[in-house]
Amino acid sequence: MRTKGVSVYYGDKKAIDDVSIDIPSEFVTAFIGPSGCGKSTFLRTLNRMNDTIPSARVEGSIELDGEDIYSSGMDVVQLRARVGMVFQKPNPFPKSIYENIAYGPKIHGLAEGKTDLDEIVERSLKRAGLWNEVKDRLTDSGTALSGGQQQRLCIARAIAVDPEVILMDEPCSALDPIATAKIEELIDELNGRYAIIIVTHSMQQAARVSQRTAFFHLGKMVEYGRTSDIFTNPIEERTKDYITGRYG
Ligand SMILES: Nc1ncnc2c1ncn2[C@@H]1O[C@H](COP(=O)(O)OP(=O)(O)O)[C@@H](O)[C@H]1O
Ligand SMILES: [Mg+2]
Repeated sequence: MRTKGVSVYYGDKKAIDDVSIDIPSEFVTAFIGPSGCGKSTFLRTLNRMNDTIPSARVEGSIELDGEDIYSSGMDVVQLRARVGMVFQKPNPFPKSIYENIAYGPKIHGLAEGKTDLDEIVERSLKRAGLWNEVKDRLTDSGTALSGGQQQRLCIARAIAVDPEVILMDEPCSALDPIATAKIEELIDELNGRYAIIIVTHSMQQAARVSQRTAFFHLGKMVEYGRTSDIFTNPIEERTKDYITGRYG
């Protein structure tokens, strides 16, 4: 994905100021920065989730594979399948585990019949590292799973519609350390197959899971580069201050 001069306003208030970034498909990219700096706002522009907020307005251009995602011809439902999203709080549908995964492929016409759909469900759950835990209880409600399992179910649901990009907004912040470690492992396994962009307030997590990091501050993208450079050899003073804990 590539953004050029993206600014986002809520009413008159500018929350993102002129952000241009090239996000490579072969890496995990982390967005870091203090609370309120605009990480979630910017992430939401990448699959037009901001469309659902009436006061939000986006300027600039955002391309997916060279295609302007804000063009009038863009099918937003299709876009959100191509650019999936996983939220802070796991949000499975109040439906069975099976239906949580099958729903997307059904509405997008990705399955030819029941056997096909079963295969997609199994493959997606396997890829999300959840199959062995749920294969004997596919008819149980998705909401009956533990928090960590629910989050992997949400990742499986995103995977089921064959996305190009997966956006994750602090996907571990509601999880315990063991469930967090499982999600981080999963991100590692998915790396390369999908472009992954993860917002995290944990610098340790960014360092562990990402190869590229963008540091945001007060609505601006201050610095972007290899994760190892950002954490060991940042160029900007503000990045240095943040990673050394001078403000949080
Ligand atoms: N729906 C909204 N309506 C109005 N202002 C918002 C909305 N969402 C976020 N903001 C404001 O935009 C700024 C950036 O917020 P956000 O993107 O949530 O930051 P972060 O994810 O980095 O914590 C903050 O000042 C926040 O109050
Ligand atoms: Mg946020």
